Amino acid sequence: MTKVPDEWVEELRQRVDIVDVVSEYVPLRRAGRSFVGLCPFHNEKSPSFSVSPDRQLFHCFGCGAGGTVIRFVMDIEGLTFPEAVEKLAHRVDLQLPAGFHRQGETPPQDSRRQQMLDAHQLAAKYYNYILMNTAAGVQALTYLEGRGISRQTIMDFELGAAPDAPDALVRFLRKRGYSPSLIVESGLGVAMGAKVVDRFRNRVMVPIRDAEGRVISFGGRALTADAKPKYLNSPETELFHKSEVLFHFHAARKNVRKSRTAVLFEGYMDVISAWQAGVRHAVATMGTALTEEHARRLKRYADVLVIAYDGDAAGRKATKRALEIAANYGLTVRVALFPDEMDPDEFVRERGAAAFQRQVHNLAVTELEFLLEDLRSEAALDSMAGRTDFLRRALALLAERASPIEQDAELRRLSSEFQVSPEALRQELAMVAKRRPKRNRQSRMAAPEEVHRASVPVQEKDVSASQRILQALLVEPRAYEWLLSRGVDELATVEQTALLARLYHFRSVHQDGSPSAFLDSLEDPLLIRLASSLLMEDPPECSEAVIDDCLRIFKLHRAERKLREAMKELVQAQVDGCDNVTALKHTVEELQETCAALRQQLAGSMVTG
Ligand code: CTP
Ligand code: MN
Repeated sequence: MTKVPDEWVEELRQRVDIVDVVSEYVPLRRAGRSFVGLCPFHNEKSPSFSVSPDRQLFHCFGCGAGGTVIRFVMDIEGLTFPEAVEKLAHRVDLQLPAGFHRQGETPPQDSRRQQMLDAHQLAAKYYNYILMNTAAGVQALTYLEGRGISRQTIMDFELGAAPDAPDALVRFLRKRGYSPSLIVESGLGVAMGAKVVDRFRNRVMVPIRDAEGRVISFGGRALTADAKPKYLNSPETELFHKSEVLFHFHAARKNVRKSRTAVLFEGYMDVISAWQAGVRHAVATMGTALTEEHARRLKRYADVLVIAYDGDAAGRKATKRALEIAANYGLTVRVALFPDEMDPDEFVRERGAAAFQRQVHNLAVTELEFLLEDLRSEAALDSMAGRTDFLRRALALLAERASPIEQDAELRRLSSEFQVSPEALRQELAMVAKRRPKRNRQSRMAAPEEVHRASVPVQEKDVSASQRILQALLVEPRAYEWLLSRGVDELATVEQTALLARLYHFRSVHQDGSPSAFLDSLEDPLLIRLASSLLMEDPPECSEAVIDDCLRIFKLHRAERKLREAMKELVQAQVDGCDNVTALKHTVEELQETCAALRQQLAGSMVTG
């Protein structure tokens, strides 16, 4: 899809009222100039979720979620940006921009994109009809019965069968007015010389839907073991981007939101079996590894992700990768393990629904347990060297990601298993921990101050001066020139500096872009959180004078730090009787003067250092 024009999005933001939209999901009550309610993005008992009609923003002072009405719809519905603006545009009867459909003249319902959606919906009905009512579907129906799939499940997923014929679907769609080029473009047909033939033949057909439940592509399972490939999926099209799609997300969503937990399978057949077994908060990627986009989507609804990949080596490897991505997005990861290299679908067929439920819920292990187990499976525990090596790796893992309680429990276990004293293990762990600082697991979701606390201690006043600078840049387009001319490229914390860089970039492209437009351009949850909290505050006064005062505060604190160091050095030099005492005295005096001058300049200012 082409990019949605900025001016159109601005028009949309102005037409939609954020309070109206949010009220449909969250009961709000007025509190002064804002509205407050219980945050839909985290569990809370007293309201810290605030919506500002003046600024047309929302912000949760509890979990940090925040942004414009577009972000709200994206987050609460799990939609992409274009999907969210489309939904909001319908709401206020704003005509979609030309970019949404190729032919600018045609109304949206006849757009090429819409035609492709219609063709998919029709194809799903066609395949389902073939499966349930025709001789051409008997083999597929027998196959599904053999896999234990019930009629109800077939209907829930609208499963179907592609007949073993060269162009059955193409002819069906042509009769209903779909052009050959559209059929090819939508991925349902393939051009063969001058002819267009069906992409899918003699397969069980699984409709793949977007977050709104519209069919956007198909997966086709071969009916026999020798038919290749086993799975044939639609190609990437305007509708279908497999790195974004989570199979069955539209149906799992409400259960995921309720339980704050999602289950992730490798294959869509696993999702179908799990659904039938009563696990109704499961999704699968479309034959790809978990992507950041997937994780972002899941994080909007879930706190816990149960990864339930196949029990084979490939599955374990994929689990490790998915685990890192999910953890980076602040999801707590559990891993459901299936014995004997079984995959989830085989497990449910062999052991039944109750055992399956238990495997996914009660028996899922923590991230740490999984990684330790994985280390163990690779270790050569029958040799002394192998055991020592395993212990070293295990301790490194504990140092990096275990809580103190987990560390303690694990140390006891390792101590008794390897006949090493707990003291020795504890000492070794302390040494490893020094070398490997603990990984901040939720770095993307953690509060900015927390991330920074690990490095240099930050002056609180530098942080608030940095906030003033960012606020100026957010609400006052002229601040861009002011700051550039003063060469400001770093603020007090890492996140503030990152936001500064994003704002510079934004201002260089959109001189007069609104704060909301900037907010909607951000992807990183940490930066969104920082920007929306800055915007929720009363707009600060911004002038060149205020910015200069902020910069003086930085300078003052830098000078004060240097002064403290110089004084320490001076004292030491005096004690040691060094010959640079005079030079150091001079430095101290100079720094004292600098500080005094800066303090005096700041004395009359509104921004206090
Ligand atoms: N996949 C694919 N193409 C293949 C094999 C697999 O796209 N040739 C994708 C499919 O999305 C499939 C997932 O990878 O759902 C998992 O593959 P696999 O483990 O082979 O599938 P199973 O779910 O075990 O399939 P089945 O039980 O039907 O053998
Ligand atoms: Mn399988």
